[in-house]
Amino acid sequence: MHVFVTGGAGYIGSVTTELLLDAGHRVTVFDNLGRGHRAAIDTRASFIEGDLCDRDAIFGALQTVQPDAVLHFAAFALVGESMEHPQMYFQNNVVGGLNLADAMLAAGTPKIVFSSTCATYGQPDLVPITEEEKQLPQNPYGESKLMFEKMLDWYRHIHGIQPVFLRYFNACGATERFGEDHDPETHLIPLVLRVALGQRDEVKIFGSDYATPDGTCIRDYIHIVDLAAAHICALEKDVVGAFNLGTGTGHSVLEVIEACRAITGHAIPATVVDRRPGDPARLVASPRKAERELGWKAQCTDIAAIVGSAWRWHQSHPQGYNPEVSAIA
Ligand code: UFG
Repeated sequence: MHVFVTGGAGYIGSVTTELLLDAGHRVTVFDNLGRGHRAAIDTRASFIEGDLCDRDAIFGALQTVQPDAVLHFAAFALVGESMEHPQMYFQNNVVGGLNLADAMLAAGTPKIVFSSTCATYGQPDLVPITEEEKQLPQNPYGESKLMFEKMLDWYRHIHGIQPVFLRYFNACGATERFGEDHDPETHLIPLVLRVALGQRDEVKIFGSDYATPDGTCIRDYIHIVDLAAAHICALEKDVVGAFNLGTGTGHSVLEVIEACRAITGHAIPATVVDRRPGDPARLVASPRKAERELGWKAQCTDIAAIVGSAWRWHQSHPQGYNPEVSAIA
């Protein structure tokens, strides 16, 4: 297949591009390099530098490339930022998405696999979370992803586009070549590992008074290679609709920090601070539908192995992809 990957210079897009190429597919990456990194684009892929908000750019790119399918990763993805600047999220994630969907219609591209999120569920009533859980996002980021899911659903009914929504839980880990490098970094595992690298003094634990066994929040940490593999299953199978991508098992913030201490041999000082607004106590996926219908199952479910892969990447890329940019102190 020739696959058009928006956001192929980002964390999940770069690893999925690598796996697609390893599996023998052709890939064209479309990315504006606003938050992604040129060095994260696999050199075996073709690259078009462009912005989804530039309607002519995405129309022109899809007309020229004529891909068999689109994998759509390009988006803003920070919950806190979306609470301060909602317009950025609706512009980039919704308007940019609409341009992409219209360009697909114009070019005759039949299939799109869209990076959605467990943030579309908000505070779930039932955990593990199934795809039938109500979708009531608690922030503009989750809302923007849900809006584009709904738009694609209407395009399916009216125009026959085949959309797959992959609702990610907590993406983490790395391959040997590609890993997690956000600026600013807000995610737990890279922040903890920066303490072990000596780039930060301590990690802050956002609340220890949640209704969980150790009082810290529980999340479903899914290895990036497992996430990437699910995209390839979604491309190769004749499926549409939503799939939760997680392991089905949750780990608390304290358990993650403990796993990082064991892997790095560093004491990793941690201080409990106030809760972070908007954090649900427990988010764990039910991956049963993905297992049944995509023929996919998370393989790397051991938190020590997940953290270990991230640690290897951070050790080999202590300043991320941009050695000239000093790490956040
Ligand atoms: N945490 C800390 N200290 C930190 C950073 C995080 O205690 O310095 C905690 C958070 O409070 C949370 C857990 O670690 O309980 C994981 O936090 P992350 O920021 O790594 O990830 P989130 O669960 O907040 O975010 C993920 C995805 C988002 C998605 C969201 C849905 O990264 O894209 O789940 O809630 F929107």
